[in-house]
Amino acid sequence: MSSRSVTVSPASSLRGTLQVPGDKSISHRAVIFASLAEGTTRISNLLEGEDVLCTIDCFRALGVPIEKKGSQWEVRGVGLKGLQAPSRILDCGNSGTTMRLLLGVLAAQPFESLLTGDASLNRRPMKRVTDPLTQMGARFRIEDEGTPHRRIYVKGGALQGIDYGSPVASAQVKSALLLTGLWAKGRTQVREPSLSRDHTERMMDAFGIPLQRKGTAVSVSPVEKLTLPSEFKVPGDFSSAAFFMVAGTLVPRSQITIEEVGLNPTRTGALEILKNMGASIEVGDLGRMGGEEMGSLVVSSAPLVAARVEGEIIPRLIDEIPILAVAAARAQGRTVIRDAAELRVKESDRIRVLADLLSRMGIPVLERPDGLEVEGGHPFHSADLESFGDHRMAMSMAVAALVAEDPLRIRDVDCVNTSFPSFWGLLSQLGASVRSE
Ligand code: S3P
Repeated sequence: MSSRSVTVSPASSLRGTLQVPGDKSISHRAVIFASLAEGTTRISNLLEGEDVLCTIDCFRALGVPIEKKGSQWEVRGVGLKGLQAPSRILDCGNSGTTMRLLLGVLAAQPFESLLTGDASLNRRPMKRVTDPLTQMGARFRIEDEGTPHRRIYVKGGALQGIDYGSPVASAQVKSALLLTGLWAKGRTQVREPSLSRDHTERMMDAFGIPLQRKGTAVSVSPVEKLTLPSEFKVPGDFSSAAFFMVAGTLVPRSQITIEEVGLNPTRTGALEILKNMGASIEVGDLGRMGGEEMGSLVVSSAPLVAARVEGEIIPRLIDEIPILAVAAARAQGRTVIRDAAELRVKESDRIRVLADLLSRMGIPVLERPDGLEVEGGHPFHSADLESFGDHRMAMSMAVAALVAEDPLRIRDVDCVNTSFPSFWGLLSQLGASVRSE
């Protein structure tokens, strides 16, 4: 079946109050930790995007009973020694988090598992996880590396904790190693060049796993068992909220309130940058949910000026660079984004794809090895746009369309379902015209 296209028209204003779905990173981790815990955990506001459904499907294949009951997901944890050899291939779909965190769990199991994903995921780097896990004693066999059909076989061995200096600031690498560390002898330490999102550490803290954190280093020791609170609620996804933060800023006469958004400081770099650019985003109703900070965001239209986006902030806004690039294209001046070479190995090569899509709309943009330079203030012209199978690119282009000269058609948008199935509905609810074909 071919993927849908949508046509989004320029909007005169966007107004309303909404909640975005549960955070994707936290949802994956809630399913994983609940599966490894003893006893039942009921999870509310779990993101039901395809990526998280892949994690659920994989843990079901490993013998964990997971069911939806009303609005909650009930996970009957099997304990740290209770996973069973899967009788089928573990399909991680488009989800890097599923594959990398699962590799961490499976590296410690006494049985062999086989993992694969879709064509995009199968081309993404996994050695950044399998290399350190091999040093810990796990065994991997990778077939058809570099092709859309890659298969990864993994089997645990006698595991030994290591002290690993990761060359990239990646929460997926860090989380995979910390998960394996739950079964390894001695301490497992991960040091990263700058701090990536710390949801795994917070969940480990919450579930009684002894962690030591110092700067950008974190270490874990093995535990006998995990006990989770029986109820767990996932805060709204900041990365999903970011599309509405930029839409509400760019479209004139807008006011959007986004409630119960996760505001973990390792995720909110884009809020800092947008505010520096002149955005009017008020943070209120501060509270906590699932061991994380959360609050509401009130966004009003505002003119923007260019920014420099570089250095330690990059991991704290890595998923928001596509939508920040759209904001930059409406800002006065030249925005420089650097130190973001990781974008090249996301769901698409986001540097190349952004440069391509923005220039198709007539926006002057320079592609750099580790980022982009975007010249703001030019009109967005009608263009042939597509998602390149990347959910964040599809949603970023939809926001661009709201302030374009003419309606924009975006091809291949089914990928939005990986992280934000209700995106189009919420956009329409705020007053945008979205026509689907
Ligand atoms: C994620 C970590 C980040 C992020 C991804 C989700 C996670 O990836 O881009 O969307 O849930 O741990 P990297 O670890 O590759 O930076």
